[in-house]
Parts: sequence; structure tokens; C-alpha cells
Amino acid sequence: MRTPFVAANWKMHKTVQEAVDYARSFLPLVETVSDVDIVLAPSFLALPALAEATAHSRIGVAAQNVSAEPHGAFTGEVSLGMLHAVGVTQVIIGHSERRQLSGETDAGVNAKSRAAIDAGLTPIVCVGETLDERETDRTFDVLDRQVGKGLAGLTPEQVAALVVAYEPVWAIGTGRVATPDQADAVHRHIREHLTSHFGDTSASACRVIYGGSVKPGNAAELMARADVDGALVGGASLDPVSFAAIVTASRPSTR
Ligand code: 13P
Repeated sequence: MRTPFVAANWKMHKTVQEAVDYARSFLPLVETVSDVDIVLAPSFLALPALAEATAHSRIGVAAQNVSAEPHGAFTGEVSLGMLHAVGVTQVIIGHSERRQLSGETDAGVNAKSRAAIDAGLTPIVCVGETLDERETDRTFDVLDRQVGKGLAGLTPEQVAALVVAYEPVWAIGTGRVATPDQADAVHRHIREHLTSHFGDTSASACRVIYGGSVKPGNAAELMARADVDGALVGGASLDPVSFAAIVTASRPSTR
């Protein structure tokens, strides 16, 4: 049985003070939740303060991006060592917004994922098809490519420990959520891909989570599906009460 993994991707929202205030409201709401892995991903600026605010809780703190390079002349970049030093435990890699807006490639995702694992951080590797790719029946091909290239060269143990986030681009920030059937079919496909490349033990341990317009009202039916192991939440994670409701809906006891 995989422990559900539920992460808040705040994208470019919240000042440092707003992040700390959020933690103050959110922590008591999930204090008794010990059966879900919970992660908050604020902007780079808020990472140290949020890591400190959550230090005595089970909540992890993730960056939304990272450089694969250890250091050097890379203006505007942040290294894994810098993240590790302030208590960051996970990193989102290859989010579709970065693929679309910042030229993130599958090779870049692979380099960042390998570097993150070497630095002791857990990658949350994002994959997902566009609306055009879905409508022209290329969803599985796109995902096979993104997962295949993104995780190339990793060991079965490394794949077992990371998180794959399936985020259909057409469902992100649109209010148009994948149906539980659509999500489940893709998650099953991803797990089959992992099985054929990394073996059954690794594929059965790897958490495959869903992202794209997850809300308190639709979380439970998505999480009820056998291959949906949690959620990566954008808009609905900005409010602590709403995100806590999604965490609660993901608990094994309520699934
Ligand atoms: P929304 O929940 O706002 O659709 O965003 C999903 C997402 O991109 C999380 O990474």
C-alpha cells in the first residue's frame, strides 16, 4: 500500500510573510494526519522561512524548479546544494508551465532528476499531454516519451522513491478536471511503463499523483482510484482550509 502524497504548488503566489501565515493556519488543520505525505512548494524566496515554520511537523518543503548544475556562472539559477542547506526535501521537475514557458526539455528533466537524487532530494517529475495531443490520440506516446526520457538511467530503487505527477496540460488552471476514469487509465499506463523498464517492485512502490484542477469537491473520487496515489494542487492549495480538505480526502481511511 503506497502512502498518499499530496503537494501544494503555489506557483508565483505568496510573499514570505504570506507563506509563514499560511503555515500557521495550515499546520493545526493537518496535525493529526499521519497517513499522507504532505508537501508545500512556495517560491524560492519563501523556502527558508517555510522550512523553518514546518520544521517540527511531518510537512515537507519543495522547490518548484532547480538547476542541474552544482555551482558556477548560471545567472538566475538556484542549486540543489542551496536548497538542501535550507531544509528543502523535494523538488518539482518538468512542470508543464516550465516546459511551455521556459523551454524545459526531457533531457533537462532527466539531468535535474538525477542531480536531485544524488543530492538527497526527492524529485516530483511532471508529465502530461496537451489538449491537441489528447484529441489526436497521442496521450500514451507523449507520456511514454516524457517518462522514458525523464527517468532514463535511474535505478529501480531510485524510481521507487520518486514521485511522478501526471498533469494533463488541458486540466491545469482551467477548472476542467480529468475524470477519474481518464486519470486512472493514464496512471495505469504510466505504472505499466515503469514495470516494463524498472520492474514490478519499483513500479508498485512509485507514487503516481494527479494534478489539474483538483479541488476539495473532486479530490475524493480521484483518490478513490487504485492507481491515483495523491495530488499536485495549484489554485486550490492557496487557501489552507481548501488544501487541508484535499489532504483529508486523500487519507487511506477516507478513500
Ligand atoms: P491547478 O490545480 O490550479 O489546475 O494547477 C495544477 C498544477 O499545475 C499543479 O502543479
